[in-house]
Amino acid sequence: MSSSDEMTLKTPKILIPEVKIQHRLDELAQEINHDYQGQSVTAICILKGSFIFFADMIRKLDLPVTCEFFGVSSYGNRTVSSGEVKVTLDINEPLENRHIILFEDIVDSGLTLSYLQNLFRTRKPASIRTCALLMKPESLKTHVDVDYIGFKLGNEFVVGYGMDYAGKYRNLPFIGYFEHDH
Ligand code: IMP
Ligand code: MG
Repeated sequence: MSSSDEMTLKTPKILIPEVKIQHRLDELAQEINHDYQGQSVTAICILKGSFIFFADMIRKLDLPVTCEFFGVSSYGNRTVSSGEVKVTLDINEPLENRHIILFEDIVDSGLTLSYLQNLFRTRKPASIRTCALLMKPESLKTHVDVDYIGFKLGNEFVVGYGMDYAGKYRNLPFIGYFEHDH
């Protein structure tokens, strides 16, 4: 059995508990509310991993917000990103002259986000910023601008609070990790 198969059999340990997530989200929302004062924003949820983060964040925004959903899927169930992105759901509304904020669950190599930022730039928004719940700075393979970051992590693979391993664990209320046997 490979080590990734073993991961599916384990119960994740808590890395970031619910209360800590909510506390950090309050701080991020405060920053966003301050930065966009007097403006309308288009909040874009990058599916699937960001759906819980997005739902919590938009309820903390004290701004006129339009919500859009954009689906991407990386190929296969690998724990390492290939940077190849498959669009599974597009936004039909024009984004021209809108202040858009991308909500992404996690920036690992940065390849997915970099692809998305380039794609959304072609739609001529007035501005584009990114809010990521998690970032793994040591894993970055490309330069990518992330304006709002919830937590910085090491290289550990995390699940829960919307994030999956092989489609599972999205429903965990906390951010968890798998302890490896040595
Ligand atoms: P990147 O292209 O390497 O930055 O990977 C970005 C995407 O890979 C994220 O949006 C996640 O969907 C997924 N991903 C990267 N690291 C993790 C992790 O630790 N847990 C769950 N998903 C991850
Ligand atoms: Mg994602």
